[in-house]
Amino acid sequence: MRYSRILGTGMHVPPQVVTNQDLTALMDTSDEWIQQRSGIKERRWVDLDSETTTSDLALEASRRALESAGVKKEEIEMIVLCTLSADHEFPGTACFLQAKLGVPGIPALDVRQQCTGFIYGLSIADQFIRNGVYRKVLLVGAEIHSKAMDLTTRGREVAVLFGDGAGAVVLGAIDGTPDGKFPHILSSHLHADGSFAKELWIKAPGLAHKRTRITAELLEAGDHFPKMNGKTVFIHASRRMPEAVLEALAANGLALGDVDLFVFHQANLRINEMVAKQLGIPPEKVFNTIECYGNTTAATIPIGLDEAVRAGRLRPGMLVATAAFGSGFTWASSLIRW
Ligand code: UT7
Repeated sequence: MRYSRILGTGMHVPPQVVTNQDLTALMDTSDEWIQQRSGIKERRWVDLDSETTTSDLALEASRRALESAGVKKEEIEMIVLCTLSADHEFPGTACFLQAKLGVPGIPALDVRQQCTGFIYGLSIADQFIRNGVYRKVLLVGAEIHSKAMDLTTRGREVAVLFGDGAGAVVLGAIDGTPDGKFPHILSSHLHADGSFAKELWIKAPGLAHKRTRITAELLEAGDHFPKMNGKTVFIHASRRMPEAVLEALAANGLALGDVDLFVFHQANLRINEMVAKQLGIPPEKVFNTIECYGNTTAATIPIGLDEAVRAGRLRPGMLVATAAFGSGFTWASSLIRW
């Protein structure tokens, strides 16, 4: 039977480190508040006055993933790019990445599932490979939040949590048997509940508004910046992520004890601590990166996978569980034999 496996990982974050203390120059906040509520110490930002876009970060992460996979860019048959921070309204950011990478002709697909984007993208790439359509797919999660947030006290609840970054994996086809312990994606499990769409969103610009999609009133109210009902997001994330992990294990006849490493989405260290507590997972099995990068949305999981590999925490044969929750609401999980 045909499966897909991860052949290599890569990541890229901008060099500029922004500490919690740095943020106090922009808004009324404190290192203590941010660390206590989220576990975040610093994040990376692109130069806010530069023309750097999400596809630029995605390009660097992609190059590194291709290198670690030992795959030439010409071998890639499809690009799936997961992001909420598009270079432009259209065309999709995957098209810009494809042009920068220099691989014309192959399909380039954007996935707009926010914090859950990478797992949705993994599922899409996995289906194309399992069904025999493609043999090698480049899957990227990339975001630039810094340029698009309200960096004043009005936006502080959101602004302190998010950072810029990109992570990528190269997926390749592998033949194996359903119960085999060979490296492959076991399964992905995707969910959404759009009745919570406005709990974490950007209201404008959008066709829901009058002609030109944005008004002076919307700009005045800061409705072109992300807005979040933090408490509601926190409560739902803490419930849905453990559910999704258990769903993935049940689907494969596996138990929590079979998992060697949990690479969760990095929205808030406190959420991940609650998830680990609810599931009874020992803390040393959870790989977190949020202290250094904040929430990089679709990039958190591929960044986590890449850092875990480079830190020697993720080794061949290990079983990895991922889970994410975010805007939509969307949530998902996947199991990967490394
Ligand atoms: O990937 C999914 C994306 N997002 C998430 O998963 C986020 C989920 N939610 C959270 O992580 C938490 O709800 C937050 C970290 C965002 C907020 O924590 P909280 O414990 O729910 O704080 P709160 O909203 O109850 O705010 C407490 C106080 C408020 O002041 P008052 O009304 O008590 O005087 C806020 O105005 O903290 C204030 N506050 C801040 N103070 C300093 C809000 N943001 C900040 C800030 N610095 N950055």
